[in-house]
Amino acid sequence: MRVIVTGGAGFIGSHIVDRLLADSHDVLVLDSLWEHGGGRRQNVPQRAAFVHMDIRDEGVKRIFSEFKPDVVSHHAAQHSVAISARDPQYDAQVNVLGLLNVLENSVKAGVKKVIFASSAAIYGPPDRLPLTEESAQRPISPYGITKMIAEHYLRFYKSDHGLDFTALRYGNVYGPRQDPNGEAGVISIFIGKFLQQQGVRIDWDGEQTKDYVFVKDVAEANLAALERGSGSSYVIGTGKGTSVNVLYRTLVEISGFDAPVTPAPMRPGDIRECAFDPSLAKRELGWVPKTKLSDGMRETFDYFKERLPLGVF
Ligand SMILES: NC(=O)c1ccc[n+]([C@@H]2O[C@H](COP(=O)([O-])OP(=O)(O)OC[C@H]3O[C@@H](n4cnc5c(N)ncnc54)[C@H](O)[C@@H]3O)[C@@H](O)[C@H]2O)c1
Repeated sequence: MRVIVTGGAGFIGSHIVDRLLADSHDVLVLDSLWEHGGGRRQNVPQRAAFVHMDIRDEGVKRIFSEFKPDVVSHHAAQHSVAISARDPQYDAQVNVLGLLNVLENSVKAGVKKVIFASSAAIYGPPDRLPLTEESAQRPISPYGITKMIAEHYLRFYKSDHGLDFTALRYGNVYGPRQDPNGEAGVISIFIGKFLQQQGVRIDWDGEQTKDYVFVKDVAEANLAALERGSGSSYVIGTGKGTSVNVLYRTLVEISGFDAPVTPAPMRPGDIRECAFDPSLAKRELGWVPKTKLSDGMRETFDYFKERLPLGVF
C-alpha cells in the first residue's frame, strides 16, 4: 500500500513508519518537526520519503494528490495536555483545523482510509475501570476535547464522503525515541534521570496507576488497522494499571542504581487509577499487547543508554 504518515518523524509515528517499511509498503512522512514535539529528522529512515510541512499548509493538497496514498496514518498533533491548557487556540488550530485539512485532502486524493491517533484523554476521570470504548467521555483538557471532536469529524467524513477510518485511543505509550526531556512520559523521564545518576520526583504517594503500552505494540495495532476496524474506535492498552512506584522499582532493578526520590504533592487533575480493556481490539483487529512491561522498559533503557555518550538527552 501507499501510506502517508503525518507526524512520522515523531515518537509513535516513526515506529509505525519502521513497521510499514518492514512490510514493504511505500511510505511518505509529512511532519513540521514542531519545536515542542518529539519529531526528529533522523527518526525517518532513508527508504521513506520525507516532506517538511505543517498539516495546516495548503501545500498538503499537492503532496496528497501527487503521492496518491491508499491510507493516511494521522499522527501529527499538538500532543501536550499542558500546552493545550495554556494555549487552547493553538491546540485547536493543529488538532482540529489541521485534521480537517488532512481529511479534505484525503477525500480529494481518493484516500480509502484514515487511521487516527486518538487518546485516553478523551475520557477524563473514569467512573469505572477498566475503560472501554463505551465509557463516558468527559475530557478535562483542551487536548482531550480536540481528540474527542476529531473522532466525530472522522464519523462525518465516513458518512458524508465515504472516507473510512479507524481511531486508536492510546493509553500511555512508552519506548525508544520518546523524548525524555519533555513532560511526555514518566518512563522516559525516569530513564533519563537514572542514566544520568540523578534523583527522580514522585508525586502523591506514587501508588497512582496508568496503563503503559509499548510503542512497538502500538505500531502493530496500526498495521492491523490497515485492513481491519472499519469505522470504529478502539482502546489500545494492556488492561493493567501500573503504579509509579512499580516503575521506579523496575528501573532500580534494570539499572542497579537507587535513584534518590524527592516526594511531591499530587498534581491537580491527577487520576488515581487507570486501565484500558483491549478486548474489542483483540476481537476485531486481532491485536494483543505482547510486550511485558519489564521487557519494554529494559529495551527503552538500553536504547537511551546507547545514546547517552552521544548526548542525546
Ligand atoms: N505518547 C502517548 O502516550 C500518546 C497517547 C495518546 C495519543 N497520542 C497521540 O499520538 C500521536 C503521536 O504522538 P507522539 O507521542 O509520538 O508525539 P510526537 O511529538 O513525538 O509526535 C508528533 C509529531 O507530529 C509533528 N507535528 C506537530 N505539529 C505538527 C503540525 N502542525 N504539522 C505537521 N506535523 C506536526 C511533530 O513534529 C512530531 O513529529 C499524537 O497525535 C498524539 O496526540 C500519543
